[in-house]
Amino acid sequence: MNAPWKSGGPGGRDQFAAYMCDEASLDVLRPIALEMGWQPEKCNKGGLRNAVQSLSITASPNILLVDLSESGDPLNDINALAEVCEPGTVVIAVGQVNDVRLYRDLLASGIQDYLLKPLSPGTVRDTLAQAQAVFSAPRGHEPGAAKSHLSTAVIGTRGGVGASTLATSLAWLFSADEKLPTALLDLDIHFGTGALCLDLEPGRGLTDAIENPSRIDGLFIERAMIRANDNLAILSAEAPIGTPLMTDGAAFVQLEEEFRQAFEMTVIDLPRNMLINFPQLLANVNVVVLVVELTLASARDTIRMLSWLKAHAPHARVLVVANKIQPSLAEITKADFEASIETPVQIAIPYDLKAASMAAKLGQTFADTNRTNRAGAAIRDLSRLILEETGEARSAPGGPAAKPSLLGKLDLKAFMGKAAAKKETAPR
Ligand SMILES: Nc1ncnc2c1ncn2[C@@H]1O[C@H](COP(=O)(O)OP(=O)(O)OP(=O)(O)O)[C@@H](O)[C@H]1O
Ligand SMILES: [Mg+2]
Repeated sequence: MNAPWKSGGPGGRDQFAAYMCDEASLDVLRPIALEMGWQPEKCNKGGLRNAVQSLSITASPNILLVDLSESGDPLNDINALAEVCEPGTVVIAVGQVNDVRLYRDLLASGIQDYLLKPLSPGTVRDTLAQAQAVFSAPRGHEPGAAKSHLSTAVIGTRGGVGASTLATSLAWLFSADEKLPTALLDLDIHFGTGALCLDLEPGRGLTDAIENPSRIDGLFIERAMIRANDNLAILSAEAPIGTPLMTDGAAFVQLEEEFRQAFEMTVIDLPRNMLINFPQLLANVNVVVLVVELTLASARDTIRMLSWLKAHAPHARVLVVANKIQPSLAEITKADFEASIETPVQIAIPYDLKAASMAAKLGQTFADTNRTNRAGAAIRDLSRLILEETGEARSAPGGPAAKPSLLGKLDLKAFMGKAAAKKETAPR
């Protein structure tokens, strides 16, 4: 696949190339390429097919932006592109189809991101910066990778959107259904519901950890965490309301580190204010679940948080999940919300009062109680998406992995089969 006779720029590979179908996109792209220190001539006219043709005779760039607009079968054509790309190339697709299923399939086939036309300079700039970070990050799927671990942070864009409901549900599904040793870290120190929703007492574990970060080690974890099932341990608190949080965040980072050694999965219920105070908490997180509601205020804060995440946690895969959906009562429609945040909502969970009250009554997580209704099924879809989309990251030895390159995945013949099968699967 790697033709040794291919020519390329200095060092064999260019830093960047783009293949765009229309002048308007090229006009947006060229000045940004220049800003990033790349040659604007590398922004070529022509879409995916041109890219495949050119790259079959020249070395592929580190970062490749490719327009799918003129492609009748984008997934198939992307596979053709993978045939001519070098390992490690970070590919960003551009298109005019706003379809979540296509977006997901593209991500699953190794594409780093999918941008909708017309291109907005801010989004292009952020995406290219992120691609650069991903390209320079250590690869996560080297052979001999030590212990696997996947860390997911669940963040609500507004209060009460259901972030804790999803964090506890995901932790339950990973531990009970997938049988993966899982830690749930509830960082809502004063008002956390991680233990409450499982009908457990939070204990003093998290409070002790905050007061004495130097004591945090494997033994401490074993003693301080509350067991919720054979595979799930929780660290949560109900700190007195009169006691302000006194920490520099070192305890939380240390806990994350210990969890990486002791568990396969970490789920962090991360309130927004904790994100602002302790951004370092996201340094080793693989997946961020951004829980949104379909309101104007949530749209504004989703935009702000997506942009923050792109800048501060470019390694993390961000999944936008809309909860408590009531189509007839939505302040803004899902389509308008998606257009405004310029990102598809990957999972939509219906509002289901009966489901929530049943979970509360039984002292179980929402997903555990609701195994047959649509809300429960959507949360299970989310858990699968997390496990699926970051399958490669779980093999990273000491932290999050870059998203696998197109070719990195394609090297695995099995993946080719999976991509083809996925294409034929009927929408859920
Ligand atoms: N899909 C849903 N349908 C109906 N009720 C729901 C749904 N999801 C969550 N809830 C309910 O909404 C309430 C708030 O949920 P939760 O505590 O998870 O939100 P949160 O985002 O963590 O809030 P906070 O900002 O206080 O941390 C809970 O009573 C929960 O049972
Ligand atoms: Mg909460």
